[in-house]
Formats: sequence, structure tokens, C-alpha cells
Amino acid sequence: MRKRLRKILSEFLPEDELLYVYNSYDIVGDIAILRLTDKLMRYGQIIAEALMGVHRNVKTVLAQTGPVCGDFRIRKLEYIAGENKTVTLHRESGCLFRVDVEKCYFSPRLSYERMRIAKQVRDGEVVINMFAGVGCFSIVMAKHSNIGKVYSIDVNPAAFQYMQENVRLNRVYGKVIPVFGDAKNVIEERVCHVADRVLMPLPEKALKYLPYALLTLKKTGFIHYYDFEHARKGENPIEKVKLKVAEKLENLSVTFDFPFGRIVRSTGPNWYQVALDIAVKH
Ligand SMILES: C[S@@+](CC[C@H](N)C(=O)[O-])C[C@H]1O[C@@H](n2cnc3c(N)ncnc32)[C@H](O)[C@@H]1O
Repeated sequence: MRKRLRKILSEFLPEDELLYVYNSYDIVGDIAILRLTDKLMRYGQIIAEALMGVHRNVKTVLAQTGPVCGDFRIRKLEYIAGENKTVTLHRESGCLFRVDVEKCYFSPRLSYERMRIAKQVRDGEVVINMFAGVGCFSIVMAKHSNIGKVYSIDVNPAAFQYMQENVRLNRVYGKVIPVFGDAKNVIEERVCHVADRVLMPLPEKALKYLPYALLTLKKTGFIHYYDFEHARKGENPIEKVKLKVAEKLENLSVTFDFPFGRIVRSTGPNWYQVALDIAVKH
């Protein structure tokens, strides 16, 4: 179990400053990424050294200075300590991912979700990953199932370049097909009605792009849908996402059910990332 940042820093920072420390941080390859308030930036070096003391494999510490944003879902990072770099090699579920954490989206927190989907893939399936990033979902699927092929689409040139490199690193040529472009154009122009399964790991666009997921599916199939949802005490974020998606699918005259839903993680006070599996039965 990873030590929480406040505990690591308890012997290095005054007690009143500790209150401003965000407890969680990510480790991507040998780069640690933490969130530091303006108030704590002046302790950056001390914090980074304490963290590297606990995690001997960490060679670089970066601070996230803004939210994940824009079409490419990237975040502003500031160098704090160690080697000054943003490219690293991350290991997950027997796969290797080369990634530039400044130019591409990457979250080690989705590792359980990636394996959960991989375990559902049946022999010979054709899969479309509409928002593939550097190829993590696609490569984990290709390594842990007997997949036919997965078309792995991304609109960020840097993510596309790393996805190609990751296909080589993991020797999944022919199984993972990197495609550069906007998922809606790629589907309309190249892959209508070919897929047994579609992944939509981009909560900000999933609802709007649902018609394109349906367009790329065969008559029946599965869609793995992701969304952010607000839920007050007593409300269930999974049920709220089901309502929203059901309304959209009913408007599109689609027959469906929801075999599974889960909260992937909490993303803020009363905000959740939700995964919803949709079984489409035209
Ligand atoms: C949240 S990231 C998910 C990345 C990846 N699935 C993962 O787990 O690491 C969403 C990705 O969708 C890409 N993207 C955004 N809009 C897109 C679009 N219209 N078509 C294709 N990719 C898009 C972004 O560049 C980004 O890499």
C-alpha cells in the first residue's frame, strides 16, 4: 500500500503547513506527479526529496499546476527535482508504456479498469477504442485476450506517436492498429458496422459520441461507456448515468441493457467517474 504524502512529510514540514498537502500522488514509470498548492511550492525541493527517499525508483518529481484540460486531456506540469524530463517508461499488467506525461494523457489509476475490460474480450473480437491515448486499454486487451484486432484511435499527434512506439515495444503488431484522427471521422469513413465491442474512455465526449459508437458496432455488441457524474448524499452516481444514457439510447431507438456499472474513482467532492457497460441488441 502506497504511503500517503502527509505521512511521508510529517517529519519534514511544520504541522500547520501539512494541512495544505494533497495526500495522493501518481507514479508514472520513474516520474512522480503531485499537486502542490502555491503555499507549498516553496517547500517543493524538501517534499520531492522526502518522496524520492521513500520511492527509490522515482528519478523525477513534477508538480501538476493546472487541471487536466483541452481536447488532448493534458495537464500543466512544473519541474521540481531530480532529472529534468517528462518522458518515461511505465509497466502495467505485463505491458510497457512509453509516455510523455506533459504531452499525452496517462493515468495509472485506470489499471484495474483496463484489466476488467480485457477479461471480457472473446476470441477473434474486433474492437474499436475511440479515445486510445498512448494505447493502454488496447495493448492490455491485446496482451491478455485472444482478440482479433483493435482499431486504436486518437486525435493527439503526440499520443498517436507514442501509441505506435508502444505497439512495437509490446509486439502487438497486427492486433493493435493505431489510427490518427477524430473518432467520429474515422468511424464514418473507415469502420462502420465492424465492431463487437467499443471503448469510450473519454467522459467529456462520451455522450455526444454515442451515435458514432453505435455506428461502428455490428448488430449486437458491447459499449464500455465512461462519464463524470455529480451525486449528493443518498444519490447513486451509477443510476444517474444510466438514466442519462438510457434517454439518449431510447431517442436513437436502440434496444439495450446495462449488465454492469461501477464507480472508477472519486474526482472531487461529490463527483465520480463512472464506468457503464452497455449491451446493445439492435
Ligand atoms: C482521457 S484520455 C484516455 C486515454 C486512454 N484511453 C488511457 O486510458 O490512457 C482521452 C484521449 O482521447 C483523445 N481524444 C479527444 N478527443 C478525441 C476525438 N474526437 N477523437 C479521438 N480521440 C480524441 C485525447 O487526445 C486523449 O488522448
